[in-house]
Amino acid sequence: MRADFEEARVRPMTAADLERVREIASSLKDAPQWGAGAYRAALDLEVAPRRIALVAEFPGSGILGFLMASLVPPEAELETIAVVVEGQRRGVARRLFAGMAAELKAAGVMAVHLEVRASNEAALGFYHAQGFMEAGRRPRYYAGPEEDAILLKKGLG
Ligand SMILES: CC(C)(COP(=O)(O)OP(=O)(O)OC[C@H]1O[C@@H](n2cnc3c(N)ncnc32)[C@H](O)[C@@H]1OP(=O)(O)O)[C@@H](O)C(=O)NCCC(=O)NCCS
Repeated sequence: MRADFEEARVRPMTAADLERVREIASSLKDAPQWGAGAYRAALDLEVAPRRIALVAEFPGSGILGFLMASLVPPEAELETIAVVVEGQRRGVARRLFAGMAAELKAAGVMAVHLEVRASNEAALGFYHAQGFMEAGRRPRYYAGPEEDAILLKKGLG
């Protein structure tokens, strides 16, 4: 991977990004797999007026990560955050999260919550590094394989 990680640009996702976004999601077993229609609906401001969808783009390497969040003020849900394997542990997700947090604060959102598979150690490590705290558990929430969901929450005060 030759991306210059200092030159990342976090910007809003557009319909032109969806093919690459879906390619990234399908390369990661722990990323939620949304159909093309679900992504398109998420980008349609009439259908989803309160959505944040961001990509992290790198000169020479294109899009290496993305994030989707939905806003239900005064809270928001982080639905997906994903970074290509070769781009991981270089601060890409941290930058995406910071971009989302700035938008959420501007929208008056005071807290972010999410659910994650109990076995997803990378995501749990990332979320804890961002200051998320465990807020509960949903037993056997996920199927294939069956697994608990851990509910995490972070205040944006
Ligand atoms: C979770 C994920 C988005 C993290 O992306 P990333 O760009 O590698 O994360 P960052 O480089 O910004 O990491 C920031 C900090 O989070 C923590 N972290 C990140 N990945 C971690 C891991 N695998 N194990 C433990 N801690 C981790 C570390 O504290 C890290 O800082 P450090 O590298 O200086 O130690 C990435 O692993 C991923 O795409 N996983 C597959 C998809 C997924 O599970 N998404 C979440 C469910 S939707």
